[in-house]
Amino acid sequence: MYHPDLLVGFSQADDAGVYRINDRQAIVQTVDFFPPIVDDPYDFGRIAAANALSDVYAMGGRPLTALNIVCFPSSDMPSEILVQLLRGAGEKIEEAGAVVVGGHSIKDKELKYGMAVTGLIDPEKVITNSRARAGDRLYLTKPLGTGLITTGIKKNAVDRELTAIVTAQMAQLNSKASELMIAMDVRAATDVTGYGLLGHALEIARASRLTIRIDSDSLPLMPQALELAAVGMAPGGTKANQQFLEGHIRISQTVDEHLLTVMFDPQTSGGLLMAVSPDRAERLEREAADRKVFAQCIGQVESLGEVPILVE
Ligand code: CO
Ligand code: CO
Ligand code: CO
Repeated sequence: MYHPDLLVGFSQADDAGVYRINDRQAIVQTVDFFPPIVDDPYDFGRIAAANALSDVYAMGGRPLTALNIVCFPSSDMPSEILVQLLRGAGEKIEEAGAVVVGGHSIKDKELKYGMAVTGLIDPEKVITNSRARAGDRLYLTKPLGTGLITTGIKKNAVDRELTAIVTAQMAQLNSKASELMIAMDVRAATDVTGYGLLGHALEIARASRLTIRIDSDSLPLMPQALELAAVGMAPGGTKANQQFLEGHIRISQTVDEHLLTVMFDPQTSGGLLMAVSPDRAERLEREAADRKVFAQCIGQVESLGEVPILVE
């Protein structure tokens, strides 16, 4: 689809669409909704909102407005659940400095919830997947393993403490990480969500026509992520993500199989994955520490080799 003001569209497999309004302003638009991943409706609302906002942050945008998308089994579910859900989401939108302007609900057998979010950005400063350069360091701003842990919750394999940890992480906005990225003039980034770390790394590698080398020893992991992988708690999407990478990836034989499962694990409201020029990497780490933003170097970008993704 071509339009002179469509700066980022469908075809680029980026986080959100970007449409130029004038020389100084463009809007960033994204939508996401899904069935509950935690039991508590208030927490589900917070997570769904943080997840929907994340695509705006991943582009370097500032969220302005949000619309609720609700599929609700009105006859089989108390309306108090919807009240709690919308309260949680509303709080997150407020925390982001944005506002809920409306929405739409339909009756459905299974509860689903999400948001469409619109943000604002300078058209010259859009952070897409396509501008990584050889030599860039790759940083990740949240540890991996939310898919494994939320699957573990559903199968009663996770205690309340870890449930609280994963809920807090998924509800955490990527706003500060995005501010850090903008301040450091990062050129390419995405957020790690359903396609897992390696799927989203592939999007950057493909769009930038480069190879990404992941250093598996340096990956930040959520507590018990490896143990849950070892006892078969990988969610359904893991296999699809693995198949998605087939033919595009080379994995060193020394990489632990459960660690690999974590790299394919679909994330909900995961961190930002950003490519930072090597001369700014040290400053980024210092800035991150000052701003109390988690940011871990997990690999680097190289000129395009045989495959776009290398895991060592
Ligand atoms: Co995204
Ligand atoms: Co998305
Ligand atoms: Co992006």
